[in-house]
Amino acid sequence: MAKILITSGPTRQYIDPIRYLSNASSGQMGCSLAAAALQLGHQVVVVSGPTNIEYPAGAQRIDVVSTQDMMIASADVFPTCDGLIGAAAPCDYRPVEVADHKIRKSGAALEIKLVETDDIVAALGISKRANQWTVGFALETEDARFRALAKLIRKCCDLVILNGVEAIDSSENSIEIIAPNGQIIAQASGSKDHVATMVLRTIQERLIESQVVSSLK
Ligand code: C5P
Repeated sequence: MAKILITSGPTRQYIDPIRYLSNASSGQMGCSLAAAALQLGHQVVVVSGPTNIEYPAGAQRIDVVSTQDMMIASADVFPTCDGLIGAAAPCDYRPVEVADHKIRKSGAALEIKLVETDDIVAALGISKRANQWTVGFALETEDARFRALAKLIRKCCDLVILNGVEAIDSSENSIEIIAPNGQIIAQASGSKDHVATMVLRTIQERLIESQVVSSLK
């Protein structure tokens, strides 16, 4: 049995107390992955941004709002886990300044300076122990396989799951799982539950069982 951390859903970056930047992620893929991992007998911790999704009762759920909150919660729990699946769509930008009052309309254009947020999968991938594994998602529109592999390398992932924009806020998905040598080791399409089962099957064979074998040697 492995303990698996799954990041899921969108995050929010507030501009003022009312308004925020976010994206259309539903958390469905993270939910399906949590269910598939529990089905295989694993322990699951979900760190989730704001979403209406109901994660399986057997998973431990930690709710967060911003990308920084997701980073802190994930970095806190990851040392107790065997692996990470980064299924969240964290907001990539945050405003440099957050107004402490509602920004009033003035009739003029509003300029907001944004900076990039930290990358959770990359940070945990770089810091992982020899027996820990990390799996990231890549949502690409052009040069998809090349960019997904580049992401795997940059974020020190053991596998990357390539999917398209159709996946966002949809009950279906179509994926390819890419290994560090660039090989496509699995493909799946259909409901997110079906795709998640295939993803967990691949993780089980490639990352979980191989750790058990190497620890026995
Ligand atoms: O770079 P990009 O956002 O396309 O990479 C997607 C992968 O990186 C997903 O696994 C996502 O969960 C993760 N990610 C992250 N922290 C961010 C941005 C993306 O963990 N700030």
